[in-house]
Amino acid sequence: MTNSSLTSKQPSNLGEQDKKKLPLKHVAIIMDGNRRWADAKKLPRFVGHREGVNSLKRLVQHVGAAGLKYLTVYAFSSENWQRSREEVQYLFDLFSKVLAEELSELCENKVKLTFIGQLDKIPTDLYNSLQKAMQVTRDNRGLNLQVALNYGSRLEITEAVKRIAVAVRSGHISPDEIDDRLIESYLYTGGMPDPEMIIRTGGEMRLSNYLLWQAAYAELYVTDVLWPDFTPEHFDEAVREFVQRERRYGGD
Ligand code: FPP
Repeated sequence: MTNSSLTSKQPSNLGEQDKKKLPLKHVAIIMDGNRRWADAKKLPRFVGHREGVNSLKRLVQHVGAAGLKYLTVYAFSSENWQRSREEVQYLFDLFSKVLAEELSELCENKVKLTFIGQLDKIPTDLYNSLQKAMQVTRDNRGLNLQVALNYGSRLEITEAVKRIAVAVRSGHISPDEIDDRLIESYLYTGGMPDPEMIIRTGGEMRLSNYLLWQAAYAELYVTDVLWPDFTPEHFDEAVREFVQRERRYGGD
């Protein structure tokens, strides 16, 4: 797989008419490279994050129109607290602003918003906006947009194990009932299908503590394109690659 083939501009094949043919239900994305994008243009780094929002907006419209059921994006990892106080504050302010500005349009487009992660550690104002957004969009039946905020997969699994242990101790479940379905139901993503593909922009070949359980069978697609430059055409190219891999490895 060469990166040039991934980033080359080919006509999109995920138009309205292809809705029913979309070969996957759930795509998860590691949106990486906002600061490198700004650095390369000699712009302040916050401009990279701001452009990253535009990239996400474009993609949400695109995948919603193409009929994707689940899109999960990594907005803030539990490790991101290590960034400067100014950057963390900027990102939280940005998330609040985007939510306030976009909520009604998301609703019009029937998008259901869910936030996954250790949400109770998020500043109160933003936390309240997240809860409101989840409440307001709860019954929407279009795209399920999951935003991972203060998310870390090991913590997610650790929390699930603790809650299962409590359920065993109180006699609600027996140890013999613990299987992968039960564990899955205790994760933040309980009840969602696993992602069939994880896309990572910015070229790093890592999962970075993202959806470690859920990604067990996912195809990994890494592109050097930096997140603010990632377009719907790049997404379509990733889907085409996914289809090719299915054909190659799908078995008899
Ligand atoms: C990666 O770039 C991106 C983030 C830290 C997450 C922030 C994402 C956005 C602002 C996109 C929009 C998201 C929402 C939910 C509105 P980086 O800072 O890690 O870049 P680098 O790899 O160049 O350092």
